[in-house]
Amino acid sequence: MAGQLEGKVAFITGAARGQGRSHAIRLAQEGADIIAVDICKQIDTVGYQMSTPEDLAETVSQVEALDRRIHAVEADVRDRAALQAAFDAGVAELGPVDIVLANAGIAPLSLNPVPEEWQDVLDVNLTGVYNTVEVAKPSMIEGGRGGAIVITSSTAGLNGIGGNTPGGLGYTAAKHGVVGLMRSYANQLAEHSIRVNTVHPTGVDTPMVVNDVMQEFLEADPQMGQAMANALPVPMIDAVDISNAILYLVSDAGRYVTGVTLPVDAGFTNKK
Ligand SMILES: NC(=O)c1ccc[n+]([C@@H]2O[C@H](COP(=O)([O-])OP(=O)(O)OC[C@H]3O[C@@H](n4cnc5c(N)ncnc54)[C@H](O)[C@@H]3O)[C@@H](O)[C@H]2O)c1
Repeated sequence: MAGQLEGKVAFITGAARGQGRSHAIRLAQEGADIIAVDICKQIDTVGYQMSTPEDLAETVSQVEALDRRIHAVEADVRDRAALQAAFDAGVAELGPVDIVLANAGIAPLSLNPVPEEWQDVLDVNLTGVYNTVEVAKPSMIEGGRGGAIVITSSTAGLNGIGGNTPGGLGYTAAKHGVVGLMRSYANQLAEHSIRVNTVHPTGVDTPMVVNDVMQEFLEADPQMGQAMANALPVPMIDAVDISNAILYLVSDAGRYVTGVTLPVDAGFTNKK
């Protein structure tokens, strides 16, 4: 049976591990080729270990094992020129992009907060998303093939959660901010048949939250622990649950869905 994304090319940021890797694999299973970008380096204000070049290499081998092509580049979404170069090189190798997943993000949450967290999280989680869409937009419009863009927000993009630290406040502000970007882009790009939506995951089983620093942070504030509880009896969901929601949004099944904030949150947001 033909895949749902046969002949498509997807540009995915934060693709070295976690949800980004899962999206690359899930879309490749449906026939898409992948342009994968990740910083593969540490950012000082982030308390947990970020991705490595080996993580990105693992994404490459898992996509290639599906007989799909992948162009992987180490680049920082904060660096527009580097991101543009990565995108252009990927298009030169794989062809025009139909799907953009602005997934890269950081969560600088710690018990010893520093003021710089605020700017770092805004730079990556908000400006980085803006950069991601901006580098892809002109060629998608020019190509005239339509397309689909999905921005990964969070339940913290719909609710006032995230705590009281510079990183927590910045995370919530940035994740709300990308909803504004999404709504503007959805309006501007509709005439080009390019759809734009956000997904809002609850806690997902990835190295961003499954680490000692984050566990310490959550346990130190019982209100935060409570704020993280889902309605459905599941403490955390899997990366592939987000990938499947994204697959719906970028495939023909979602062809008239645009401008939407889609929670994939085990009932978290409705419970608030
Ligand atoms: N895990 C959760 O519970 C959860 C919940 C809601 C939303 N999210 C969001 O989901 C997205 C994916 O996160 P994840 O859970 O897979 O975590 P993760 O830390 O495993 O993956 C994020 C990836 O983004 C990359 N990245 C970070 N900064 C970058 C930059 N400046 N340039 C390029 N790449 C960069 C990291 O290196 C990493 O590989 C993020 O936007 C995150 O905020 C996560």
